[in-house]
Amino acid sequence: MGLVLTAYVALAATGMSIALARKAKRPRPRWLRPLHYGIGGTMVALVLLLLSIGVVGTLGHFGTLGHSLHLAAGLTAVVLVLVSAGSATQIGPKHPRARSLHVGINILLLLGFTWVGLTGWTVVQKYL
Ligand code: HEM
Ligand code: HEM
Repeated sequence: MGLVLTAYVALAATGMSIALARKAKRPRPRWLRPLHYGIGGTMVALVLLLLSIGVVGTLGHFGTLGHSLHLAAGLTAVVLVLVSAGSATQIGPKHPRARSLHVGINILLLLGFTWVGLTGWTVVQKYL
């Protein structure tokens, strides 16, 4: 989760540099977009990894899912990450709304991560 949040902060920073360069009609450094894309892909992979650890671990321990709101929070975060990445691939002149969708989803994603983090921490307390 620490890595996920680190990736999120790096994406916010590189994303804002992209937006600033676009608004100022300045050429942006050539490495900026691939860097943002690469960190984004890494964050998607990390979130899917946490999802599979959570599901496999919970099934192994209880045999069933859905012991707390952490399940809903986890699934929400995964869906938001996938929509964010999907909308990102559509950013360009052909899809004028993809950019604001990407940015809007990413703001919701911060709330989603906060929710998984808090509910995850609550289930951890059960084991301590
Ligand atoms: C989920 C993984 C992510 C992927 C694959 C991704 C990919 C992209 C891509 C391809 C673009 C378009 C770049 C261009 O204009 O050429 C973009 C723009 C942007 N992204 Fe992301 N991104 C991700 C996550 C995030 C996150 C988490 C944030 C913020 C916290 C973010 C903020 C932005 C911003 C601010 C822009 C610039 C929009 C503009 O030009 O106004 N991205 N992203
Ligand atoms: C994006 C991040 C995460 C995702 C997608 C995720 C997803 C999941 C899912 C789907 C489950 C199965 C829950 C159930 O069926 O009740 C689970 C279980 C669990 N997760 Fe996460 N999780 C994430 C982050 C975290 C974090 C940050 C923590 C700790 C602070 C955590 C701690 C746990 C624990 C302890 C369980 C066992 C559930 C139980 O005992 O009821 N998870 N996770």
